[in-house]
Amino acid sequence: MQLHLPVARVGEIAPGSAKSFRFGVKNGIAFNDNGTIIAFENFCTHSGGQVDLHAASNQFVCRLHGACFDVKSGERLSGQAPENTRLKPISLIEKDGMILAILEINDGY
Ligand code: FES
Repeated sequence: MQLHLPVARVGEIAPGSAKSFRFGVKNGIAFNDNGTIIAFENFCTHSGGQVDLHAASNQFVCRLHGACFDVKSGERLSGQAPENTRLKPISLIEKDGMILAILEINDGY
């Protein structure tokens, strides 16, 4: 079973900007990559800290210990998060002027 959870209105997230949203028991973070919205679970691969967009470097940076992740792929770039890990991607759909995140109920939620 799927739930479709609100992320943002279409056009709400400006290019190069990010927005956090609720994703079941976690948070998600959506990023506008030159007009394409991409999203990840906002859960650092080190110890689950929240990440924020650091616009100057165009990276997500963890609030707890500073690990950095690529905004397009979610791949860990540096810091205490283990190498070869990445933020988990979230699938999105667009419906009735809204961007919605797809939450699979059998994903342990
Ligand atoms: S929880 Fe993110 S770097 Fe430690």
